[in-house]
Amino acid sequence: MLLLGAMLTGVLDDCFCDVESIDVFNNFKIYPRIKKLTERDYFRYYRVNLKRPCPFWSDDGHCAIKDCHVEPCPESKIPVGIKSGNYNKYSQAANSVSDRSECEQADDLGAINSTLSNQSKEAFVDWARHDDAQDHFCELDDETSPDADYVDLLLNPERFTGYRGASAWRVWNSIYEENCFKPRSVYRPLNPLAPSRGLCLEKRVFYRLISGLHSSINIHLCAEYLLDEGWGRSVWGPNVQEFRRRFDTAETKGEGTRRLKNLYFLYLMELRALYKVAPYFERAFINLYTGNSREDGDTKELLLQIFNEIKAFPMHFDEKSMFAGNKLEAKTLKEEFRLHFKNISRIMDCVGCSKCRLWGKLQTQGLGTALKILFSEKEIQNLPERSPSKGFQLTRQEIVALLNGFGR
Ligand SMILES: *[C@@H]1O[C@H](CO)[C@@H](O)[C@H](O)[C@H]1NC(C)=O
Ligand SMILES: *[C@@H]1O[C@H](CO)[C@@H](O)[C@H](O)[C@H]1NC(C)=O
Ligand SMILES: *[C@@H]1O[C@H](CO)[C@@H](O)[C@H](O)[C@H]1NC(C)=O
Repeated sequence: MLLLGAMLTGVLDDCFCDVESIDVFNNFKIYPRIKKLTERDYFRYYRVNLKRPCPFWSDDGHCAIKDCHVEPCPESKIPVGIKSGNYNKYSQAANSVSDRSECEQADDLGAINSTLSNQSKEAFVDWARHDDAQDHFCELDDETSPDADYVDLLLNPERFTGYRGASAWRVWNSIYEENCFKPRSVYRPLNPLAPSRGLCLEKRVFYRLISGLHSSINIHLCAEYLLDEGWGRSVWGPNVQEFRRRFDTAETKGEGTRRLKNLYFLYLMELRALYKVAPYFERAFINLYTGNSREDGDTKELLLQIFNEIKAFPMHFDEKSMFAGNKLEAKTLKEEFRLHFKNISRIMDCVGCSKCRLWGKLQTQGLGTALKILFSEKEIQNLPERSPSKGFQLTRQEIVALLNGFGR
């Protein structure tokens, strides 16, 4: 995504940098390369389990919630493919029949296009063999489940799918309220470097990152909005009104500026993580494996170019004061963050539309990976040059999520 300096100018509070320089750096140096990178086979296929049931509340499958703009679907109208598995919770809603076509259409547009060529499918078997042969020391969650499938990200862009369910609201609400180390007043401007109100620096940072992620997702939905439909064609494009509603200073009582600043904060944080993890990828034996060694070489070359651009960028977020407590404290915090991210990823299983769930899970994992990197500075410094390390490893899914999340 090209960053949106037009809405925000000047110096950011968390680093010695200004919005304009970040925009120029991103729009000319980073984004074009990231875009090319994420089109390559290694990065375009993301393995994810989208079939896990929502573990936290059971009463709302995506069309069956009160207060929802989309009226509940009668069970008979739920597409068979969606009805099976986790979505058979519609019985209470079965009586309401209004607006069924809107609901159906939202299902349709939000569905994953799972088209994969036979060639790709064969390659995945080979990839799995290759990945299994690597030593894995990290915990694998979703990705080893038999329900995890490869999704082609290029066929499933993140955009507003016409689905206006309340589940999205509920998901974000529970993330902020129950998983965010929430400060007392959400509406007070947060400066992570200011003295805390009982919340340590890292936890305030966590809150800002989640807010930045939320902004990113909303910006993408506003940028590719379902503007028109008819004759079997859907027209997608920017919806300025929706963007204003979420980010304009006047329409958000000043909240919009804070949301956008949090997006820049997230960007700088992930940028920092990429800077820190560069040595991991610079080792000669690290291979972005797809089985085509020429392609793999090119992909790696492109990734290293991105690292070089990042190293040349002078205005980095200074994370020294973070993650710098004593060893035990850092370890506890790292574990706490990990658990929170795992939980947020599970909350994403409650997002109604599967395309939104896909991008929600990917970006959560990307940010989780960035934090894992920032918490692992020492391990990365001590990586052996010629062999995998017990101390720090990234899985294919983490790498794909990290770069695609940053690309967003
Ligand atoms: C999925 O993507 C393929 C390749 O672009 C396209 O041919 C197909 O029509 C798409 N399917 C749906 C249901 O959109
Ligand atoms: C892909 O594989 C399936 C099952 O092996 C086969 O039925 C189908 O014809 C193949 N499609 C193409 C395009 O080769
Ligand atoms: C996980 O999220 C749910 C739903 O918001 C919440 O009720 C629960 O307390 C969270 N668990 C942890 C360990 O944070």
